[in-house]
Amino acid sequence: MIELSHITKVFNRGQINEVTALHDLSLQIAEGEFIALIGANGSGKTTLLNIISGAIRPSTGNIIIHEADITSLPEHKRSRWVARVFQNPLAGTAPDLSILDNFRLAALRTRPKRLVIGINERFKTEVRDKIAGLGLGLENKIQQPIGSLSGGQRQALTLLMSVMDHTDILLLDEPTAALDPKSAEVVMQTAERIIREYNLTTVLITHNLRDAHRFGNRLIQMAGGQVARDLDTGAKGTLKLEEMYGWFG
Ligand SMILES: Nc1ncnc2c1ncn2[C@@H]1O[C@H](COP(=O)(O)OP(=O)(O)O)[C@@H](O)[C@H]1O
Ligand SMILES: [Mg+2]
Repeated sequence: MIELSHITKVFNRGQINEVTALHDLSLQIAEGEFIALIGANGSGKTTLLNIISGAIRPSTGNIIIHEADITSLPEHKRSRWVARVFQNPLAGTAPDLSILDNFRLAALRTRPKRLVIGINERFKTEVRDKIAGLGLGLENKIQQPIGSLSGGQRQALTLLMSVMDHTDILLLDEPTAALDPKSAEVVMQTAERIIREYNLTTVLITHNLRDAHRFGNRLIQMAGGQVARDLDTGAKGTLKLEEMYGWFG
């Protein structure tokens, strides 16, 4: 359970460019919930993810994860539970290193070094099995540089890499925005598979209303740093795509 209480975030306070990115926002996210988060540019979506990941601190308000108040816990101490994927498939991977070595680097965040570094056959088998599970046929390419893959394949692997170790919260900020439609589809299918398999609590920011309509079991629209609409599974299930387009005038 993630519990945000009365979160306000003001940037550049007292200056001419002062912005209130989040305004007294309260939100509870249940375990295993998959939220599709939409909203106009500047409505505060990324700031909300930054608050959950710990990349920024709220100006006022509290955030509780797993019943502990983690408002002042820095990002690297939350990364045990919280994984983040950005729009750029290059972010978070080292293109010249092999797929396997990229997985090693990712695992070093959370696992003892001796289990990850060097020629650890068990680790290699584990990575190969997990990649095979994606159904993308990449399990025999783990020695290839990750930079030689397509953007969609790389993004799918980044997703897997980010959740392999004990993560239970996944934050996706427009993960398909930089991809062509076919690659975007691969990544979304992969995301859905991973979210279900690992039972992740997920927030997906997307500008693609079709994706927001199709994916997730809760739909939130933000406007002006606040929650403007919040549809539970039932309401989302009967929502028409055309109606969503109407929300954006
Ligand atoms: N680091 C920052 N410094 C100053 N202003 C910021 C910063 N991050 C976001 N903002 C401002 O806060 C508002 C919300 O931004 P953001 O959360 O990125 O919106 P969204 O992701 O919905 O487009 C915008 O007006 C943006 O310009
Ligand atoms: Mg954003």
